[in-house]
Parts: sequence; structure tokens; C-alpha cells
Amino acid sequence: MTFTILVTGGAGYVGSHTILELLNAGFDVICVDNFSNAHKDSANIPTAISRVEQLTKRKVTFYSVDLMDKGAVKGLFAKHKIDCVAHFAALKSVGESCRLPLKYYQNNIIGTTILLETMEEAGCYNFLYSSSATVYGETQYLPIDEKHPTGNCTNPYGKSKYFVEEILKDLCIADKKWKVISLRYFNPVGSHQSGQIGEDPNGIPNNLMPFIAQVAVGRHPSLKIFGSDYNTHDGTGVRDYIHVVDLAKGHLNALNKLEKVKETGFFVYNLGTGSGYSVLDMVKAFQEASGKTIRYELVARRPGDVASCYSDASLAERELGWKAQLGIKEMCEDTWRWQKNNPNGYSKL
Ligand code: WQD
Repeated sequence: MTFTILVTGGAGYVGSHTILELLNAGFDVICVDNFSNAHKDSANIPTAISRVEQLTKRKVTFYSVDLMDKGAVKGLFAKHKIDCVAHFAALKSVGESCRLPLKYYQNNIIGTTILLETMEEAGCYNFLYSSSATVYGETQYLPIDEKHPTGNCTNPYGKSKYFVEEILKDLCIADKKWKVISLRYFNPVGSHQSGQIGEDPNGIPNNLMPFIAQVAVGRHPSLKIFGSDYNTHDGTGVRDYIHVVDLAKGHLNALNKLEKVKETGFFVYNLGTGSGYSVLDMVKAFQEASGKTIRYELVARRPGDVASCYSDASLAERELGWKAQLGIKEMCEDTWRWQKNNPNGYSKL
């Protein structure tokens, strides 16, 4: 009997890449999304999902649902036998979260509690949570392992991810039927090698890689590098960039653990490569991958940024049998193929 996964936020960047891997692995997928950060086609289907269906030759059952609408969420569980939920739906802009904390706490936390409540009422206790290295806040040591303290976050987005992890831990203590895996992503970048799906941020990208890609394709004249006086090898910020396909495959390994392992409770894993690259390293690598010159200017640090952040991902290797396979070259080549093929992302404009 095929394992049916409900994927929330499946029209997004990481969600759509994960759905592609789930379909290829034989899972049945139900996708819900409220289109807060996803482009829809004329049939009110997310463009990313249509492309995933073309790439996999498999169908996705899609519903336009906002998790704040408990009636709609209950309807999903009434209509389908759902074995597990992979929860990607969240607002994720650090800067916006500082301007609109209530919107972030309501959407990211209350939306998740409504989902969990409905799962409990439906007797579904397998939960895969999209968390973030942001929960570690100011880094106290490097590389960061799962024992590193969490909660010292500098923005409401990171705090919302931290608060949900705490809710999940309490839930697993209160009811031993719950089996929860929280995956802490470092910096997701790249695109599926087909060039058909990729990162398509609304407006001006906050994150480094999509901004570099948009400079390369001519949508911005140059990149602003935030800070060149950090205590790093070249003064610019260092991060653990992980290819989104490696990240998606990490979810497969986690789902296999949820499906096959009887042990219940709360489990948490870093998904990173363990390597740190600076902003200037990424600019250089992208120029080599694209053959384009990425003009940049060195400007002041961005508030809230840390100098360096990279992972110790050995626990995921030991317990999930997962290790990132793709390097900075593939991250840049695959990003460029997506951006070159889709200069305006999923919108045809
Ligand atoms: C990376 C580096 C910047 C843009 C955040 C969230 C994290 C996750 C990923 C959601 C830093 C520098 C960036 C630019 C730059 N988000 N930079 N110019 O801040 O490490 O992580 O995004 O899941 O949770 O916290 O990623 O890509 O914004 O920045 O110089 O135009 O690039 O200073 O050193 P970050 P980022």
C-alpha cells in the first residue's frame, strides 16, 4: 500500500523539489499551498507543480488551502487517508519578519498548531518539519551540531521556527504516538538539473544566490556585498550552502525513517554540507559557472548577520544514511540553467 504524504507549501522552492523526489520514489503526494509565495497558471495550479508533473510523468493532487482555515484542513483529512505530513508552508523573509512579527507568528506558529491539531483528530502522527539553522541564533561554536543551543534568534522568522520546534517537543512528550523529525536547513541554493524548477522569490531577493543569478541575467546592475570586514578568510560572510536537490533527498531519507522505524518521539537533524563558502567565493564560482561578470560593491554589514555559520551534518549521515553529494560548482551551474531558462522566474512577463 503506497504511503500518502500531505505536503504543505509544496508550490514553494524546497517543497516543489521535494515533491519531485517523492514522486520519483513512488510516494503518492497531496499538495496544499495558499499561493502566498508561488506563481499559479491559468488553471489555478502552481506552475512549479505543473512542471514537476511534466518531469516525473506523475500526478499531484493539489488544493489551494490556507492552514489558518481549519475547516479546509479538516476537509483534507476527511477526503484522504494521509500517512504523513511534510510541512514546508511558512513565511521565510528575515527582514519582513522584523517589520511584520504578528503576521509571521500567526502564519508560522498558529498555522502549524491548526495542522497538528487536525492531524491528531485524524489519527495521523507522522510529521516532518522544515526547520532552519536560524534557530541556532548567534553561533557559539563551529561547526554547528544539533547540541548547539537554540532560541537565541535575532528575528521573528527564526524565533517562529524555534517556537514550533519547542511545541513539537512538548507534543511528543505529552503523547507518545507522535513521530516527529525536524530538519534544520542551512542555506538552500541551486535548482533541479532540468532547469525547469527553481527559486523564484517575490520582488527583490533577500538571499544571496537568487540575487547573484538575477545580476547575471541582467535584472540588476550589481550585487551589494554586506560587510567585508568580518573575521573570515576574505572578510565577507561565510555560509553552508546546500544544493536543494540534496536537501530534497534528505527528506526522502527522513520519511523512510518515519515509515519504517517504530521508535516514536522528536528527532532533529542538520541538513548542510559541513563546508563554508564566503560571499566572494560564491561570486567567483557563479562567474565561472555562467561565464558572466557579476559586478559588486562592498557596503556596510546587514543588521542581524553573523560572520560564519556552517554545519556538522554527521548525525544525519549516521542515523538517516544521508550526506550531501553536490558541490558549489553544481549549485551555481544548476542555478544558472534555471535562471537563464526562466529570466523572470515562473511568470512569463
Ligand atoms: C548569505 C550571505 C549575507 C544578500 C537566511 C535565513 C535562513 C534561510 C536562508 C530561509 C550573508 C550575504 C546576501 C545580498 C550579501 N532562509 N548577502 N548580499 O542570511 O545566511 O540566511 O536565508 O529559510 O533561515 O536566515 O542567507 O542568502 O540572505 O545571506 O552580501 O544581496 O550573503 O550578508 O553573508 P542567510 P542570505
